[in-house]
Amino acid sequence: MASKSTIDPSISPLKPTFDSDGSHKESDHLKAVIAKLGLQSHVEGGYFVETDRDSLRIPNPFPEGIKSSEDTRSASTTIHYLLTPRSPLGAFHRNKGRTVHTLHRGRGRYILIHADEVASASCPGGYGGAEDMSESERWTGKARVETFIVGQDVLNGERIQWIVDGGKYKCSFLLPDEEVGKESEGLLISETVVPGFEFADHDFMRVERMEALVTGKQKEEMGWMLRKE
Ligand code: GUN
Repeated sequence: MASKSTIDPSISPLKPTFDSDGSHKESDHLKAVIAKLGLQSHVEGGYFVETDRDSLRIPNPFPEGIKSSEDTRSASTTIHYLLTPRSPLGAFHRNKGRTVHTLHRGRGRYILIHADEVASASCPGGYGGAEDMSESERWTGKARVETFIVGQDVLNGERIQWIVDGGKYKCSFLLPDEEVGKESEGLLISETVVPGFEFADHDFMRVERMEALVTGKQKEEMGWMLRKE
């Protein structure tokens, strides 16, 4: 292996498999899937449709945070989410709610930055609990970064279900369907957010936050995963 990832030395540096410049055309199959499921472009990249929003309203469990928010939330929401060769990147963002992901088809790589574990005055990346700690209890080091592949090859460690707790930054990008080759018919998953999704509970990672949370070398490797502003 020529060089090693700064996130996981057992793999090569993370690079996009498919350019995010829109130069790929959707296949007829993917166009039909997008139409049949009623998917729309997502601000994170990729496509989505909300398939369920629980009519049960629950008290908003989140402390006042990054944006002002209402008193209640839907108990849960569920979406389909699709990455394609034309829109292959779900850019780094976080939700306050916990998200349960289930794979339907395809392969992709996920990267998590555990910002919630390092909230502090000098690294203000978390929500709730950690903010309540005294200055001496807080850890001001860099955040833990985790990466894994989602796909059907469970015997080789690929995941078919993955849970991301609130307050963690998440990014995903499309991988080819097979280890060798460049073809993909998309990564299609379902995501259930608890409590239900609201934009008030969502924010994108900005470059300054990435620089605060990860090492310079990790920033070099992951900079392309930030949303283009
Ligand atoms: N509207 C825009 N993005 C989302 C999302 O990720 N989930 C839900 N439920 N609605 C959205």
